[in-house]
Amino acid sequence: MKPTTSPKTYRVKSFGCQMNVYDGERMAELLATRGIAPAPEGEDADLVVLNTCHIREKAAEKVYSDIGRLVKAGDEAGKSPLIAVAGCVAQAEGEEIMARAPAVSMVVGPQAYHRLPGMIDDAVAGKRGVDTAMPADAKFAALPSRRKSPPAAFLTIQEGCDKFCTYCVVPYTRGAEISRPYIALVEEAKRLVEAGAKEITLLGQNVSAWTGEDDKGRKLGMAGLIRELAKDPDLKRIRYTTSHPADMDDELIATHGEVDKLMPYLHLPVQSGNDRVLKAMNRSHTAESYLRLLERFRAARPDLALSGDFIVGFPGETEAEFEDTLKIVDEVRYAQAYSFKYSPRPGTPAATMDGQVSKEVMDERLQRLQASLNRDQAAFNAASVGKTCDVLVERKGKHPGQWLGKSPWLQSVWFEGDVGIGDLVQVELVEAGPNSLAGRLLVPATV
Ligand code: 5AD
Ligand code: SF4
Repeated sequence: MKPTTSPKTYRVKSFGCQMNVYDGERMAELLATRGIAPAPEGEDADLVVLNTCHIREKAAEKVYSDIGRLVKAGDEAGKSPLIAVAGCVAQAEGEEIMARAPAVSMVVGPQAYHRLPGMIDDAVAGKRGVDTAMPADAKFAALPSRRKSPPAAFLTIQEGCDKFCTYCVVPYTRGAEISRPYIALVEEAKRLVEAGAKEITLLGQNVSAWTGEDDKGRKLGMAGLIRELAKDPDLKRIRYTTSHPADMDDELIATHGEVDKLMPYLHLPVQSGNDRVLKAMNRSHTAESYLRLLERFRAARPDLALSGDFIVGFPGETEAEFEDTLKIVDEVRYAQAYSFKYSPRPGTPAATMDGQVSKEVMDERLQRLQASLNRDQAAFNAASVGKTCDVLVERKGKHPGQWLGKSPWLQSVWFEGDVGIGDLVQVELVEAGPNSLAGRLLVPATV
């Protein structure tokens, strides 16, 4: 039985990228303005929002199994939740979800979730609805202003992608590139800082493609936005992700050298180290042009930590071509990276290309690639031991008196001491593990 009374509690489950995390937070804030509260830990919620990801794997199948689990739990409890499917699977497969999963009351795409409250009212009245419209920027204007923030906050400045890499579903699920207006971003950043943010990560599928105009009508790129945000004395750190090599301009490179608050970390996906594969992927760079670009960043900011994304087993990838990916990894020495097996996405050009690579070959290549990436990450962490740096405290650790925060290079750092969440403290890095470091608190909270 579907509920016929308005929900009092909600749970938003976000999968996938940080942009989904951001969307999940904004949906939660929107629900709160309707008097719907977060469900207490361990209790069933009256409304469950599955904020889905479509980038890889059998993401849609995962959504159906989640829905199945919710229905089963609801049957056992004698009380089913209202179920909303949001995110990129909702965008890509909205009507199919409605047809296949009668338990779902609402399907709402990433550009339409500001309409959730009205859809909830409809659902309670027994009317199911799909909204996957993509009105440019209407969503942000309709969302409530920010009231709460973790110390490390996300701020979506740009959405969508016009690059059309041949493996990628994003240009179809998130639509064309749009930049949020400068004034709205400056305002949201200010609210986040007032609400407790010490660090802001600017988000976008192609974040460095952001463009805008300042209050005097001057054209700006993301570097200009970063310089403006850095003027707020209460904002201590700025990051951005994810970038395409084609959008990295001289001004952004210079900003890395000139703005201390811009953290020394760059996530710049390369995907493959082989030029034929890069061309087939429709990436507008070569291995060489990517390496030259990194050189310029490293010249501006010598302690820059690099991160990347990789795909193994793109259609037609030979052993020798894969080895070029290992070579570029050896050359760059990433501090941290994400690597994936190619996953054919329905509707993308690569899905129907000849030479699809077998699962066994992909498994084996992924293992070899990850061995190299893990080696470099461990080496980067080991080389950090002995350094003193600022750590932004994000949460409590498992043991009493223990805290977890992030170094400027986005490493997780554990330490003990008399601090609180949101403090920016000086820590000496004393021991390195593969995924985190142990630190020693040097001075009490400075903020
Ligand atoms: N298969 C595997 N990995 C993919 N990515 C995007 N699309 C696919 C796909 N079809 C990876 C890319 C991208 C990251 C977000 O996900 O590496 O940078
Ligand atoms: Fe996908 Fe390429 Fe756009 Fe990134 S740049 S979102 S990989 S199409």
